[in-house]
Amino acid sequence: MKKDFLSLADLTAAEFEELLTLTDVLKTSPHIRPLAGKSVALIFQKPSLRTRVSFEVGVVELGGHPIFLSQEGIGIGVREKASDVAELVSRMTSMIVARLYDHAVLLELARHATVPVINALTDLSHPCQIVADVYTMRQHGKLKPGAKVVFVGDGNNVVNSWLEVCELIPLHFVLAAPKGYEPNPDILNRAKKRGVSVIEIIDDPYAAVRDADVVYTDVWTSMGQEAESERRKRDFAGYQVNVQLLSLAKPDCIFMHCLPAHREEEVTSEVIDGKQSIVFDQAENRLHAQKAIMVKLMEEYNGLDGYRSRHSAEVMEH
Ligand code: CP
Ligand code: NVA
Repeated sequence: MKKDFLSLADLTAAEFEELLTLTDVLKTSPHIRPLAGKSVALIFQKPSLRTRVSFEVGVVELGGHPIFLSQEGIGIGVREKASDVAELVSRMTSMIVARLYDHAVLLELARHATVPVINALTDLSHPCQIVADVYTMRQHGKLKPGAKVVFVGDGNNVVNSWLEVCELIPLHFVLAAPKGYEPNPDILNRAKKRGVSVIEIIDDPYAAVRDADVVYTDVWTSMGQEAESERRKRDFAGYQVNVQLLSLAKPDCIFMHCLPAHREEEVTSEVIDGKQSIVFDQAENRLHAQKAIMVKLMEEYNGLDGYRSRHSAEVMEH
């Protein structure tokens, strides 16, 4: 049975740990070629720098051939139904990576594809980002049980994926967001009910960041929300991550951002270029994490074996 990577909620804690381990393996062993002789379709309805480059380079490094398909080129839902795209692409390639607006279209693609499908961001979630983020936290010695991760800003797709990872590793996750910008209620309720992590949503960013190990932010206006940009700038005015806000966190707190950043809006240049910022480690780790996700899916799909046990890193440092 083919396996997809659509949501972190579909993974077990052990599978997530295996992804982090595999990310380590691939970062240090560039000679694994499970995609030799295979092609991977990259279907992108939205713009991208990090995700597109990391998948294209990742496929090449794994021995495969990436085919970039833009919305202008293939017109999912306009020129052709998503189900027909899935059928056709499955006959010619070995994997589909899709960045889409509507999560329902991703699910439709996955339902009709006979090859693995990877969620490269939808309006609902961004699981590939969070694999790289948690890996980067660990790289910087911040992945300890109960580590306090404070996300300042919109309860968007990135936050939804943070909530999903809260079911897999024990964190203290706090979202500081204005009223009306809460995350997806189903994802939030499920993560709270699981009880693996402590989860709080508050509207005061200054109270939220106290004693934080990680302060994270993202744009106030995500792709597809451009018409709301002026209203969002007003609503998020008090939610900028600046030196004053960051000074309330632990002195060795790290600053994270999935990028792209709108400097002087959600974050000041002083913070994003400052010594606590690890945003480019995060961005680089997208490549290694993406490769891990693809190898894992090929392994599941084709019965490939043997990359796993060489590194036995545990998810949490104690
Ligand atoms: N963080 C991220 O997904 O960046 P891109 O939108 O540039 O791919
Ligand atoms: N929330 C942002 C993330 C970009 C990587 C967006 O969806 O535009």
